[in-house]
Amino acid sequence: MTFHPDSVPDLTGKVYIVTGGTSGIGYNTVACLAQHGAHIYLCARSSAKGSDAVTGIKTLYPQARITVLEMDHLSLASVAPAAKFFLSREIRNGKQTTSPTGSSPLTSYPLCSALQTLPPGSVRIVNLTSSGHYSTPKDGINFADTSLPNAGGVMCYGQSKLTNILHTKTLNKSYGPGSPSAKAGEGEIWTAAVHPGLVDSQLAAHAEIPKAMMAVFKRIAEKGWQSKLAKDMGLADKLEEWTREEMKNGGWID
Ligand SMILES: NC(=O)c1ccc[n+]([C@@H]2O[C@H](COP(=O)([O-])OP(=O)(O)OC[C@H]3O[C@@H](n4cnc5c(N)ncnc54)[C@H](OP(=O)(O)O)[C@@H]3O)[C@@H](O)[C@H]2O)c1
Repeated sequence: MTFHPDSVPDLTGKVYIVTGGTSGIGYNTVACLAQHGAHIYLCARSSAKGSDAVTGIKTLYPQARITVLEMDHLSLASVAPAAKFFLSREIRNGKQTTSPTGSSPLTSYPLCSALQTLPPGSVRIVNLTSSGHYSTPKDGINFADTSLPNAGGVMCYGQSKLTNILHTKTLNKSYGPGSPSAKAGEGEIWTAAVHPGLVDSQLAAHAEIPKAMMAVFKRIAEKGWQSKLAKDMGLADKLEEWTREEMKNGGWID
């Protein structure tokens, strides 16, 4: 790894969305981007938490340019207006997006379609996944009841982290380099699903990581570490179909 936060260049004029910006990796990502002059939309599930985060970052970097976007990923009713607000403010000059906690609804169809109007590669989506994606139900995703009422926390986490990877692959297939959209000159978005390694955050403080997983969990952003299910494009397609149906049923897309 040659990358270090100190090597981040001047980001004046760049625009980012950071989900989970009130704590851990998201909070520190916002602070680092703000330090280097970017305009950041910090996503928080309450405006009070968002304001607290902005106050904390401005103590370090008084010039920080941060706008709070209120959204709870468990409720599309809050994600959709936040995405619309962002587009209304930034679609003419948006440059890059980053999504550390990975919100499939946020990076789904309406936002991606709008961002496609920007030059190839100027829009980037980073979804944070985890080596925890190995711990899933047998078939990867329990479409019958995704809340997994009878499973423990590790399996629920694993299922959600698997969906981060599969969704990222679907985005790449639809909008990435070589996609029909890119070839037709209708937009090219770069996406990545990353395991950040073991980071000392709120999540790490409360996680019960099985001992056998620890060695894998500590590995950082290595290429190619994915389970068989994470490579299953049939499952990715099924997730895409299921997500579209859920969004249609909720009236979020036509
Ligand atoms: N830490 C690690 O070692 C590690 C390893 C592998 C992957 N990751 C991944 O990295 C990402 C960030 O994790 P972290 O370690 O920084 O965790 P963290 O400190 O617990 O931060 C999680 C953030 O997500 C927000 N959040 C949680 N549920 C939400 C919801 N329903 N709607 C909106 N926001 C919500 C939290 O907001 P509140 O402040 O309101 O709770 C918080 O800002 C996660 O996707 C995690 O899976 C972390």
